[in-house]
Amino acid sequence: MKILVTGGAGFIGSAVVRQLINETSAQVVNVDSLTYAGNLDNIADASDSPRYAFEKVDVCDAAALREVFAEHRPDAVMHLAAESHVDRSIDGPRATIETNVLGTFTLLEAARAHWQELQGDDRAAFRFHHVSTDEVFGSLGAEGAFSETSPYQPNSPYAASKAGADHLVRAWRETYGLPVVLSNCSNNYGPFQHPEKLIPLLITRALAGEPLPIYGTGRNVRDWLYVEDHARALRLVLEKGRVGESYNIGGNEERTNLQVAEALCGILDELLPESPHRPHANLISLVTDRPGHDLRYAIDAAKVSAELGWRPRETFATGLRKTVEWYLANQDWRARALAGAGAGERLGLGAAQAGS
Ligand SMILES: NC(=O)c1ccc[n+]([C@@H]2O[C@H](COP(=O)([O-])OP(=O)(O)OC[C@H]3O[C@@H](n4cnc5c(N)ncnc54)[C@H](O)[C@@H]3O)[C@@H](O)[C@H]2O)c1
Repeated sequence: MKILVTGGAGFIGSAVVRQLINETSAQVVNVDSLTYAGNLDNIADASDSPRYAFEKVDVCDAAALREVFAEHRPDAVMHLAAESHVDRSIDGPRATIETNVLGTFTLLEAARAHWQELQGDDRAAFRFHHVSTDEVFGSLGAEGAFSETSPYQPNSPYAASKAGADHLVRAWRETYGLPVVLSNCSNNYGPFQHPEKLIPLLITRALAGEPLPIYGTGRNVRDWLYVEDHARALRLVLEKGRVGESYNIGGNEERTNLQVAEALCGILDELLPESPHRPHANLISLVTDRPGHDLRYAIDAAKVSAELGWRPRETFATGLRKTVEWYLANQDWRARALAGAGAGERLGLGAAQAGS
């Protein structure tokens, strides 16, 4: 089976590519334009495989995508390429809308043209898997969890762009019959996550003895999932998910941002007994909240569990420890990833000019 993965040089996409190459016999075509968030180091241990190919292509480039489909003739698409940072989407929504909405549209059209040329079993077996987020559902109060039938209520430009993409994917199924599956996942963490995201950012700053910025009161709740567990779920959704269905994926590990920071500081205290910054929790500092900051996300993963037999292997405690250990052991990787544009600056206060 040949799978075209978009965004395979990013955080989750690279976990998918590594698993497909190292744990299956699939061929992988990684389509990634290598933005500041893309890093080929993330797939260094998979890219030597004769089953791996890389195409540096922007998903908004229709002509280049047509060539990729014509050359590689994939059996399936897993679409992960996106502008994925909420704060960046607040400061400059255009790139987010272009990649996440127009890019998804352009990829859908390229996939549809390819699918329409397939015959018989190949045509029936083709899948387009769109990888999305729980943020499309908006914010929860203190109780309840998002299910696949929760109404869409996106609050940030990022969430709205992913919601728009989800709707396009559904429409390509209803209108053109393209065999699609969708998944909406909660917050991921783990190795190879860009240092601008919460957990790697906190690790980086704690190691430097810098304040650990937590937005608002620190009481915003996210449901955390270890990235390798997400990648396994995505493979199952592609392989066994019912056409036209969406699957919510989450770790059932709700934590406030303050709890995340405290847990992480506790692990650092233990792993770095000589650190002059112990106890690291003293570095925690509440800062101005993100505009429109959703209070709580939680996922009801009953469907993916009952239909596809998926369960996360890591708890938040085991996954966080692995993550902190990985960042400590891979400080070169962190430094190279940080060299990308603007990493480490305070983003997301919406101070940039409208239209950018
Ligand atoms: N990170 C999370 O917690 C999370 C949770 C749920 C869903 N998701 C979704 O999973 C997907 C992957 O997220 P991530 O955290 O790995 O993102 P990421 O930012 O780490 O990686 C995104 C990748 O896409 C590539 N890319 C960006 N724009 C592109 C374009 N126009 N053309 C081609 N490639 C482009 C980047 O170079 C990068 O390699 C996204 O669709 C995101 O919405 C993420």
